[in-house]
Amino acid sequence: MESSHLGDDLTTVLVTEKQIQDKLAELAARIDDDYAGKDVLLVGVLKGAVMVMADLSRHLRSHVEIDWMAVSSYGAGTKSSGVVQIRKDLDSDLSGRHVLIVEDIIDSGLTLSWLIDNFRSRGVASLEVCALLRKPEAAKVEIDCKYVGFDIPNDFVVGYGLDYAERYRNLRDVAVLAPHVYS
Ligand code: XMP
Ligand code: MG
Repeated sequence: MESSHLGDDLTTVLVTEKQIQDKLAELAARIDDDYAGKDVLLVGVLKGAVMVMADLSRHLRSHVEIDWMAVSSYGAGTKSSGVVQIRKDLDSDLSGRHVLIVEDIIDSGLTLSWLIDNFRSRGVASLEVCALLRKPEAAKVEIDCKYVGFDIPNDFVVGYGLDYAERYRNLRDVAVLAPHVYS
């Protein structure tokens, strides 16, 4: 892979930095209302959700705790298989907690579906999902996601935490990769 300027590798910017920040402010206001008087534990899934967590949490006015989980989906190729292995577990005990999972993207939904079952078995008081992006056409399982930023087409996207071969996470926008990057 040639080292080039970030912007040279992109075709379409799908969601701009401004659109992301406006949307996160809007979602944070809803979350503040919905959880009024409750202590919330935000759980981010590494590494993709780092940017969403950083910005969403700073739009919130309520007290929250933040924890992280790292998982890997096994299976052929780059697609999620739904067979999930925990690479880093939470530091927190989930029993009796109001947990809000913060995700970058819901693609097939398989990873999140596994995570939801796993968290429920740990005795949460409540469990909801916030995802910046969702690909409705890619869904293999239905995820009940209360807070969704943007529904996007079924293209591979990068930026704002999302990577291709660990690159592009530091882009401020969400964009579609140019074909020459893959070849
Ligand atoms: P699933 O398919 O289980 O997605 O809903 C699991 C994880 O795969 C990553 N993912 C992507 N990463 N561009 C990326 O850079 C994409 O278009 C994309 N789709 C899925 C992401 O980490 C997600 O949590
Ligand atoms: Mg992810």
